[in-house]
Order: sequence, then structure tokens, then C-alpha cells
Amino acid sequence: MVPTLSAPPTQLLVVEDSELDYELLLALLARSGHPVRARRVEDDAGMRGALRDGAVDIVITDHTMPRFDAFAALRVAKEHDPDLPVVVVSGEMSEDLAVAALRAGADDFILKSRMSRIGPAIARSLQAATERRAGREAAAALAESESRLRALTRHLETVKEEERRRIAREIHDDIGATLTAMRFELVSLARQLQGQQPGQDPGQNPGQNPGQADAGSRLRAISNLLEQAVAASHRIQHNLRPPVLDAGLVAALQWLVQSFASRTAIPARFETNREDLPLPAECAAAMYRVAQESLANISKYAQAQRVAVQLFAAPEEVTLEVSDDGVGFDPGMLQATPGFGIRGLVERARGLGGWAEISSAPSRGTTVMFCVPTHGGPKPEQKSGLPSEDPK
Ligand SMILES: Nc1ncnc2c1ncn2[C@@H]1O[C@H](COP(=O)(O)OP(=O)(O)O)[C@@H](O)[C@H]1O
Ligand SMILES: [Mg+2]
Repeated sequence: MVPTLSAPPTQLLVVEDSELDYELLLALLARSGHPVRARRVEDDAGMRGALRDGAVDIVITDHTMPRFDAFAALRVAKEHDPDLPVVVVSGEMSEDLAVAALRAGADDFILKSRMSRIGPAIARSLQAATERRAGREAAAALAESESRLRALTRHLETVKEEERRRIAREIHDDIGATLTAMRFELVSLARQLQGQQPGQDPGQNPGQNPGQADAGSRLRAISNLLEQAVAASHRIQHNLRPPVLDAGLVAALQWLVQSFASRTAIPARFETNREDLPLPAECAAAMYRVAQESLANISKYAQAQRVAVQLFAAPEEVTLEVSDDGVGFDPGMLQATPGFGIRGLVERARGLGGWAEISSAPSRGTTVMFCVPTHGGPKPEQKSGLPSEDPK
């Protein structure tokens, strides 16, 4: 609905050197029944003073004045408030002038010979300004909530890494220590059973009876199971707490890609343009987790024949690219999928001041690109929770 100039009165600031034209304007507005409160100024200082002094709802400015003009008035108005509506009034009919005034931010352009249009022009301009303000406020609120979401994502990632580190440490301290003690006990039990001297191979005692031989083979079976448990515990610790910080991102990615290839039997190669890449802990952890998630997706969905992981370091940013030649998918359907893997990595990139892009199409393979600045991203809300030692 177009608002009328009804109470409370609209506060007009009229930039006009001619007292006569000003009176005419007021008379026209009075006749249209819209209550207004108006003030006239005729130069830069007058206009700035009036804007400083009190509320102004709209500026109506003459095009040419001895010491001022509409374009300068527009600049002063927009400087004061970018949404403040401005109507330019001109005695001169020129399409170029009208277009230039609108480009410079005027809401309307009126010829002095058609001043009867002023009432509706003011009403429309006020409405347009209200919409602009609402749009700007909505955009600011959206930006604010996006930035809160980014901060939250970043915080969650830190908490997640801390939690993984705690679990890895507990596995190391509790289960790891127990497994080591069991290994020790098993070796000494085997020796005791076989009456062996230290250094002698278990099961190589010619004087043992069948009962001892049976116990010996069961001990070996237990020992094998124990080795498997030790290996599983290392693997779990490694997954929970990759040695990104101590061995460096490049070594960690190398390990990740190799173990992916041997686990899945899909040939996977890793390439980088830098062997040594000092990165903030948070960045390195993000890169590693993105590679982990992308490779997990490949083994779950891609049916790929070949996988390539590339880490490319430029002076200001570092980019990770994970591509496969598998079945691909329509990235448009990501909105509708319940998975959080890809969504999480896009958020993660934003949180670090970078970007992530997923390009894929059915039967065309998939490429995930993840790029973050090596410094100068949004400031962390708290320091990265990544530990500096690996509890392995
Ligand atoms: N490399 C890939 N090849 C084929 N499809 C993929 C690949 N990566 C992801 N997808 C598709 O995108 C979807 C969303 O992935 P993601 O966000 O990681 O969630 P989730 O793994 O939990 O399903 C998957 O369900 C799958 O359909
Ligand atoms: Mg996934």
C-alpha cells in the first residue's frame, strides 16, 4: 500500500534557493491535505546542519542553485543515510539529467512545470525507502545469523577434535597400556610353559609333551589375536587423532590416501606441490577431515576406478582437490539428502574464510575442492583445540 502523507507530519528538507518556489511547493502539499513540516536550506552547510539538527523523512532538492546542486545534495543525503529518499526538482527538461539523477540515487525526478506530481512522488519515495530499509535490515540480520552459524560450526569442529583427542588418549592410556602388559605376560607365560631360555624361539622345545604343545599353539593364537587388537587400537587412534600436527599435513594425507588404496583396492594417488607445508592447526585439521570425508564418500558411493588427491599451496591459500571417475551424482539433490558430510565441509570452509565446491554429474565422476586462506581468515572464537602431541 502506498502510504499517504498523513499524521504524524512528514519532515521535509527542501533544498531550494527560491523562496517563491518553496512557498509554491508548500501550497501544493497543503492543498493535497498531507500534513508536512518543512524546512528550507540552500547550500551544503545548511543541508548538513539541518540533517544534524533533527529527523528528516525526505529531501526535495532543486536541480541548480547558485551555490549548490542536486548531485551534491544527493551525496550529502546518502552520506547521512543511504536509505534517505531524495526527490529532484528541475526547471529544465532533460532525459540525460533525469537518468543521471536516478543513477545518483534520486527516487524521483520532477519538472517544475509538473509540480502537481510532487505529492504522489513523495508518497512513493517514502514507501520505496521503507522497503529499502527493510531489505537492508533483513540482509544485515541474515548476515549476522550466517556469521553466528559459522562461529558455531567452527566451535563444534574444535569441540569434536578435542573429544576425539580425549578418546584417543584414553584408548592409548587404558587399552594400549593393558594390551602392552598382556603382551609381556604372554611372552613370559610362553617361556615358562616351554622352559625356554630368553632368546629361544617359542615352540622350539623338543622335550615338550602333547599338552604343552597344545597350550603352546593356543598361546600363539592368543598372541595373534593380541597383535590384531594392538593394530586395531593403533588404527582407531590414528583415525581419531591423525598425526597432522606432528608429521605434517602432507605426510598425513599421504598415509590417508595409501591406506584408502590398500583398504578399497581402488588405485589412488596423492600429489602436492609442497613437501613441507606449515599451516595453522585448524586449517590442517580441516584439510585432513575433508580428505577423509571425501574418500569415505568415494568408497561408499562412487564405484570409482581411479582416485586423485591433490594439495596445492599458493602464497595466500591452500587448495585440496579430491576427484574420482565414479558414478557421480547431481549436486542439486544435496539439498534434499539427509547427509551432513558435504554440507559440513562447505560450512567448514566458510568458517575458515574459504570456499568449497562440489562438481559432479551422473556418470561423470566427482570433484571436491576445498580452499582456505593460510592466514587472515575469520578470527577464531577460541584457539584451536587440537593438541600438540599424538597419543599413540
Ligand atoms: N564421490 C561421490 N560419488 C557419488 N556420489 C556421491 C559422492 N560423494 C557424495 N555423493 C552423494 O552425495 C550424497 C551426500 O553426501 P554426504 O553429504 O557426504 O552425506 P552422506 O555420506 O552422509 O550420505 C551421498 O548420499 C551420495 O549420494
Ligand atoms: Mg559422506
